[in-house]
Amino acid sequence: MVLVLGIESSCDETAAALVDGDGHILAQSIASQEEAHAPYGGVVPEIAARAHAERLVPLIEQVLKRADKGLHDCDAIAATAGPGLIGGVMVGLVTAKALAMASDLPLLAINHLEGHALSPRLADPGLEFPYALLLVSGGHCQILRVDGPGRYRRLATTIDDALGEAFDKTAKILGLGYPGGPAVERLALQGNPRAVPLPRPLVGSGEVQFSFAGLKSAVLRAVESGQHRPEDIAASFQQAAVDCIVDRTRIALAVMGEVTALVVAGGVAANAVIRAALERLAGDHDLAFSAPPIALCTDNAAMIAWAGIERLRCGFSADPLDVSARPRWPLDPSAETVRGAGVKA
Ligand code: KG4
Ligand code: ZN
Repeated sequence: MVLVLGIESSCDETAAALVDGDGHILAQSIASQEEAHAPYGGVVPEIAARAHAERLVPLIEQVLKRADKGLHDCDAIAATAGPGLIGGVMVGLVTAKALAMASDLPLLAINHLEGHALSPRLADPGLEFPYALLLVSGGHCQILRVDGPGRYRRLATTIDDALGEAFDKTAKILGLGYPGGPAVERLALQGNPRAVPLPRPLVGSGEVQFSFAGLKSAVLRAVESGQHRPEDIAASFQQAAVDCIVDRTRIALAVMGEVTALVVAGGVAANAVIRAALERLAGDHDLAFSAPPIALCTDNAAMIAWAGIERLRCGFSADPLDVSARPRWPLDPSAETVRGAGVKA
C-alpha cells in the first residue's frame, strides 16, 4: 500500500500528514498561526514564514511518531510548491527536498489548488471525474471542470476579491477579528438575511465571473450608517454571497458539458449555508453533491499527500530536486489572466 508524507505551508497553517493509497489519514497535525496574525487583521507574510520554519520539522516528527512510521516506510514526499506566500512555500518545499534527498524518496511538488480540487475524493471515493468544482478559499474563487489530476478547465474566476477575502473583510469591518469566515457564519445565525439591502455583483450577467468588491463596500456603508444590527449585516452579507455563487455556478454548469457531480472545496466550503445552497443547486440539476468534511476544507497536509497519491496513480513522474516554489500557479494555464485573480494563496 502506497504511503505519502504531505507538507503544507503556503499560508498560515503549518501542516504535515501521512496518507495511504486507500485515503486513510494515518496521522496529521496542523499548527495554526491565527494568534500570531490576529493583531494585524490578516496574514503577515514575514511572520508566517518564520513560524513555518520554527514549527514544520517538529510537526513532521510528531506525525511520523503518531503513526509509528519512519521516512523509510514512505513511498514519496509531497509538498505544496505554490501558489501562496512565497516565504512559507519555500520553507515547506526546501524541507521536503532535504528529506527526499536524505531518504532517497521521490519528491512531488504539489499545486496547493490541486490539493483543494482533489480533496473531496479523499473522503468520498465514489466521486468520479469529470466533476464541476467551486473552489472557494481565502485567495481564490473559481469554477473549474475537473477531468482528472493535472486536467482542469477554468470557467470562472474573480475579477477582484476572492470569496474568503470578502468574508475576512466583512469580519474586519464588523470588528469580529481574524480569520473572519467562521466568525461571520456564527454571527449570521442570529441575524435576518433579508434585513439589509446589499448588492449581488454580476448576478444575472451572462459573463461567468465573480466579483465581491462592491459587496464589501456596501457592507462598509451599512456599518457606517449605524442603522443595522451587526448580526443582520452578517446574515445579509452571507445571503448575498450565497446568491452570487449559486447564480454564477448555475451559469457555469450550463456551459461546461456533462459532469458527474457538483463539488465545493477550499476554506469557504466549511460554511454550512453555502454547502446547503450548493447541495440544492446540485439537486436541481440531478447531480450528486460532494464536499470534503469540514476539517479537510481549510488548509491541511492530508489533501497535499492525497494529490500526490492521485498524481502517482496517473503516472506523473516525480519532480526534480531543483523544482522552484511558485507564488502564482494556475490550475488551467490556458485560462486568460483576469485582473485581481489569484492574488494570494
Ligand atoms: O483554503 P483556506 O484555508 O486557505 C486558502 O488557501 O486561502 O481558506 C481560508 C479562507 C479564509 O478566508 C476563511 O475566512 C474562509 O476560508 N473560511 C470560511 C469559513 N471557514 C473558513 N468562510 C466562510 N465560512 C466559514 N465557515
Ligand atoms: Zn487553501
